[in-house]
Amino acid sequence: MGFIKYIKDEMKIIRERDPAIRTSIEVFLYPSFKAILRYRLANKLYRRKHYFLARWLSQRTVRKTGIEIHPGATIGKGLFIDHGNGVVIGETTIIGDNVTLYQGVTLGGTGKEKGKRHPTIGNNVMISAGAKVLGSFTIGENSKIGAGSVVLSEVPANSTVVGVPGRIVKRDNIKIPREDMDQVHLPDPYLNDVTYLKKENDYLKEEIRKVCKRFDEIKSTCDKLDEVDRLLAELKRQDKIK
Ligand SMILES: CC(C)(COP(=O)(O)OP(=O)(O)OC[C@H]1O[C@@H](n2cnc3c(N)ncnc32)[C@H](O)[C@@H]1OP(=O)(O)O)[C@@H](O)C(=O)NCCC(=O)NCCS
Repeated sequence: MGFIKYIKDEMKIIRERDPAIRTSIEVFLYPSFKAILRYRLANKLYRRKHYFLARWLSQRTVRKTGIEIHPGATIGKGLFIDHGNGVVIGETTIIGDNVTLYQGVTLGGTGKEKGKRHPTIGNNVMISAGAKVLGSFTIGENSKIGAGSVVLSEVPANSTVVGVPGRIVKRDNIKIPREDMDQVHLPDPYLNDVTYLKKENDYLKEEIRKVCKRFDEIKSTCDKLDEVDRLLAELKRQDKIK
């Protein structure tokens, strides 16, 4: 793709997705424009195994734009990073076409995985300000991740995810009622803890019930023995037995 065509495409993308832009020339002021152009160069260097130069270029870009894109990341056409500051895109991230990211987005790893450690973002996904997507799973195409969310596992296509940890609140633009909200394996540590404690509580209640029952049986046997003792004592008193 020629450089002029690249710039025209970038102008089109930014004009389409940022209502704040007034003239095409403003595109040159956008950190997104600078960061993605430099990423394309750094990625070429990275693929030719010029790792140091690639990282050098990427780190200079961080200083200029506040956007850190690892040169090893794979990025499709039409990425737009609005405002940009604080965006981090990890080495093994794969981004499809026409993705929009806002400031403060992290596409990172959890620190527990090796090899492919970062997410795969489908086409037309929007990831809102401050959202963190951590781990090597896929965000399905056309999905939206709400501002400030922390997404830790797979998101199906056409979903809206919000919260910490992220939960699906809409699919195919239809709200999911809270009571039958399929979490689609998104972890909910609080719910897990409550479920575990409830199970434990039920188990302990059952054990106490068994102990009480056994205690009643023993008490009734003791009462019977007391009665026998009392009868024996009475018989002895009447000299009927020795
Ligand atoms: C997620 C978002 C994209 C909206 O997507 P949507 O599919 O239109 O979803 P809705 O607005 O219908 O919201 C669905 C539910 O999620 C809740 N919700 C929306 N965004 C949320 C967020 N960031 N955190 C927590 N809950 C959120 C809504 O209150 C609503 O809850 P309800 O069903 O109990 O009423 C949007 O709310 C958002 O986060 N935008 C931020 C964009 C951004 O980063 N802008 C920065 C510009 S500088």
